[in-house]
Amino acid sequence: MRGQTNPVLGSLVVLIVLAALTGGCGTHSRPATTLIVTPPPPPTATPKPLTWDDLALTPPMGWNSYNHFNCNISESLIRETADAMVASGMRDAGYQYLNIDDCWMAAERNADGSLPPDPKKFPSGMKALADYVHAKGLKLGIYLDRGTETCGHFPGSYGYEIQDANTLASWEIDYLKYDNCNPAPGSSLVTDYINMSNALKATGRPIVFSMCSWGFPGSWVSSQKIAHLWRTTSDIKDTWDSIMSIMDANSVPATFAGPGHWNDPDMLEVGNGGMTDTEYRAHFTMWALMAAPLIAGNDLRNMSQATIDILSAPEVIAINQDPLGRQGMLVGNIQGTKKPEVWSKILSGNNVQAVALLNRSDQTADISVRWADLGLPDGPATVRDLWLRSDLGVFPSGYTASVPSHGVVLIRVAPVKSNLPTVTPAP
Ligand code: GLA
Repeated sequence: MRGQTNPVLGSLVVLIVLAALTGGCGTHSRPATTLIVTPPPPPTATPKPLTWDDLALTPPMGWNSYNHFNCNISESLIRETADAMVASGMRDAGYQYLNIDDCWMAAERNADGSLPPDPKKFPSGMKALADYVHAKGLKLGIYLDRGTETCGHFPGSYGYEIQDANTLASWEIDYLKYDNCNPAPGSSLVTDYINMSNALKATGRPIVFSMCSWGFPGSWVSSQKIAHLWRTTSDIKDTWDSIMSIMDANSVPATFAGPGHWNDPDMLEVGNGGMTDTEYRAHFTMWALMAAPLIAGNDLRNMSQATIDILSAPEVIAINQDPLGRQGMLVGNIQGTKKPEVWSKILSGNNVQAVALLNRSDQTADISVRWADLGLPDGPATVRDLWLRSDLGVFPSGYTASVPSHGVVLIRVAPVKSNLPTVTPAP
């Protein structure tokens, strides 16, 4: 098979070089044996096929059409968005999935029950679109609904779970968002989501399963490995109040997040125009800190440099993608709609934490964190500003920053010397 190394051919090549030695006066010549051992070439990397459990080991990153485009979608939009994701540098920053939301399908199923795309919006079909997206090094996601109709009143998947999952696999879809509108009379949310989860698993194709049931569904979704992420709230809006209330609600089930299973506080609004860049920076920071999926929801084809810089901030993304997979939480008990807050996320490494100083008040405020509040050992710690990407120095017992209204300062705190054990990701 091309591209694979036969282990027999890859075995040691041994050359025995016989060289004549000229012996001393009066003695006979004797050959010396030099062994030159050429190590085998490394085996050609054959990628291990992904399984359900390997998917979403860190929060998924991508884009979704709904927040900006609602039902105004088409294959040209998805292609242009794929192009923009590459050209803007977002792919290289870690974004992978291009997710088509509601309204992609035709008004009716085919006579055989299969679900076709709207021929006007997607004239080339979904497989061709998946091929285009895959050729860019990206992945394609799509939307279905567990009821009889989607929220936009297109055909739902109730009773068609296996057929629809097979259709998705035949198109080489990589991600499914499964919505919760118009449940069939007498149906059960739990059964409907488990049915689709089983149908996806049975296809054998690795497809990330994103439940969209507008509230933490219960520990069964993670303990039974039903889904890789689940919406914890109703729909996000492009306003500060919406962001803050969703953040509060998403923090309640924080302990259920971890590699392969994430709380989803909905897609990002960064760049959609309803908030200031300071507010968008806070929004992005808090989603990163909460180990939320980072699914951009703006028009990637028309972004300001500030929007690109927020969505691509490497050290902020790095805390979101930290392999330990802990969801950050509020420190202390001072939560309130207009108060400054301190949030922290334990990172892999030796007692390293990301700390967000979040100003929910209407005025600039000094916000302080003491290392003791974070449960860190007594003693000095280094502080790095993750937005400025600069080291701020070593601080003996805490750090204070002036934070603008609706703004955030995000720092990485690492004790200079720590006797506590290193935190490593579970195997
Ligand atoms: C629901 C979901 C949204 C979006 C719309 C589409 O409201 O929560 O994220 O998918 O449906 O109609």
